[in-house]
Amino acid sequence: MAVKRVGIVDSGIMGSGIAEVAAKAGIEVVLRSRAQSTADAMLAGLEKSLAKQVERAKLDASERDAVLARVRAVTDLGELADCDLVLESIVEDLAAKKHLFTELDRICADHAILATNTSTLPVIELAMETGRPDRVCGVHFFNPAPMMALVEIVRTITSSDETVADATAFAQACGKNAVAVKDQAGFIVNALLFPYLNNAAKLFDAGVATRDDIDAAMKGGCNFPMGPLELLDLVGLDTSLSILEALYGEFKDPNYAPAPILRRMVSAERLGRKSRVGFYDYRK
Ligand SMILES: NC(=O)c1ccc[n+]([C@@H]2O[C@H](COP(=O)([O-])OP(=O)(O)OC[C@H]3O[C@@H](n4cnc5c(N)ncnc54)[C@H](O)[C@@H]3O)[C@@H](O)[C@H]2O)c1
Repeated sequence: MAVKRVGIVDSGIMGSGIAEVAAKAGIEVVLRSRAQSTADAMLAGLEKSLAKQVERAKLDASERDAVLARVRAVTDLGELADCDLVLESIVEDLAAKKHLFTELDRICADHAILATNTSTLPVIELAMETGRPDRVCGVHFFNPAPMMALVEIVRTITSSDETVADATAFAQACGKNAVAVKDQAGFIVNALLFPYLNNAAKLFDAGVATRDDIDAAMKGGCNFPMGPLELLDLVGLDTSLSILEALYGEFKDPNYAPAPILRRMVSAERLGRKSRVGFYDYRK
């Protein structure tokens, strides 16, 4: 099955980015936000991003119009009824995602794949909320979705070969490199990345080096494009904390036990770029 229309829930950092990627790939997008104001903000953000690409001669004006015409911003979940694949990208919270999967199973066409963009949560638990556990898998994009080449396709014990093949073809149609991974917390990338990010937060908290020196060390010493504290700000500290909690819950490995400073910063609503302050201050 080729995915001609994709539904995306909700329009946060990842949902908005994935909507842009899919629309640019010629796929119709129905993007659901919970509030009209958020839906409007998402469309404004997409227009701004495309305008920049036109300015830089990466896109022509007629392509921009065609991309915008392919995106429909809605607030009613019922509008996802005729999508071939629905990818949820809501808050990294198992209870919220389970509730959403129950709703999506009721609303969506029988042939539709119900997919999750979760970074760490058990996809099988979402599959078992539905009457179609064979049509559920993970389709894990990376941040920022328009720039990052990778998508992890997560196969649960119940995902069918056809579902995995269809989801892989969708990721490839979006211009991404798809890798296959089984349903285990953190999949490939976050299982390897998060002990590193977590230990960077611990080093910072222990005063071993300054924020700028930790980031400069990993850029200059390992040739990484971003330092770990910059990257935590990009991912979002709330999302990072949830990812570490899920990894720690699954493996009980102390490297995954969240650095206390992450929890304190989330409590203080210093979530990184999305709240305009995290390890860095983006308000200036
Ligand atoms: N941030 C990253 O770097 C990154 C990368 C890959 C995958 N992910 C995953 O993508 C998902 C979304 O992350 P994000 O970074 O876009 O987060 P975000 O905080 O930017 O967006 C979350 C969205 O979910 C909505 N939301 C919150 N509670 C909800 C509920 N109960 N029902 C419906 N919508 C609800 C919010 O309004 C918001 O639009 C998570 O599962 C996360 O693990 C994040």
